[in-house]
Amino acid sequence: MGISQSPTFVDLHPATDRFLDDVQSGLARTPKSLSPKYFYDDRGSALFEAICGLPEYYPTRTELALMREHVVAMAASLGSSSLLIEFGSGAGIKTEVLLQAMQPAAYVAVDISSAALRAAADRHAAIFPGIPMIAVCADYMQPLEIPGLSAFSASRRVIYFPGSTIGNLTLDEARGFLRDARRLAGPGGAMLIGVDLKKDPAVLHAAYNDAQGVTAAFNVNLLERINRELGADFEVAKFRHIAFYDAVAGRIEMHLESQCAQSVSVSGRRFAFAAGERLHTENSCKYSVDEFRQLAQSAGFRARQVWSDPQQYFAVHLLET
Ligand code: AVI
Repeated sequence: MGISQSPTFVDLHPATDRFLDDVQSGLARTPKSLSPKYFYDDRGSALFEAICGLPEYYPTRTELALMREHVVAMAASLGSSSLLIEFGSGAGIKTEVLLQAMQPAAYVAVDISSAALRAAADRHAAIFPGIPMIAVCADYMQPLEIPGLSAFSASRRVIYFPGSTIGNLTLDEARGFLRDARRLAGPGGAMLIGVDLKKDPAVLHAAYNDAQGVTAAFNVNLLERINRELGADFEVAKFRHIAFYDAVAGRIEMHLESQCAQSVSVSGRRFAFAAGERLHTENSCKYSVDEFRQLAQSAGFRARQVWSDPQQYFAVHLLET
């Protein structure tokens, strides 16, 4: 291992103060809903890590196996000396697999959490001392301009977005997000993106209703977070985790169902729940290869290649601008 350079840290000051407004407006809506982006406080992130290791939750290990098996072909298709931009802190082993195979001209990680970003960037810098690294604290769900990237003489920009996080967006949001990503990748650019495939609903059901109840704890933690951070008084035992596959919409929906008529106060504002009323907390959309290609094309990308596992559980798509 060589001597690593410290990653350059760029803070684009993402807006992080909308939590109270978003919670109050989400609880005032019919049906009630909250954005899944609020799952990820420290405890939520730890619970998500635990979900990724569960026997029922196939996406993480399937995508990693796909990367390990096909990364040489992926790197060959992406070409040498590119500027690799990852959406997410790149904390996972998938990033290391890709960095090892691609040896990009530079690596840029973009994440809204500066702590996660710094920790991951320091680790990568120690493992890959020859690759210049930039850690950008920003919300990659918003259109991005990253200053200083033109200083790297790179053959092209490649955006890496693993984990099927795109599935947590609505179709319109996903299209808008892909359009912004295409703009950032620029002419001659590419995107490598992990997408969960449609499959037997029983497999999907098990993945979001695990036997140990970790997904339930992850869902309920959203209420606990609201209590902790916004001075709310949710009685979390009076809500039940629900997750089901809607085959028509092609998505898992997660909800928290009120077990009785009750009311909750959030920073002084009261919200009534009827018995059985649900708070919608997440969609996790599943796309066939063709559906995702159409979506990517509608955002201006050309679908170039796709790698999937023998069970057809997960796909990694290579898109070009
Ligand atoms: C982050 N995202 C892709 C996960 C998913 O599968 O939609 C979040 C998750 N929700 C419940 N389990 C995992």
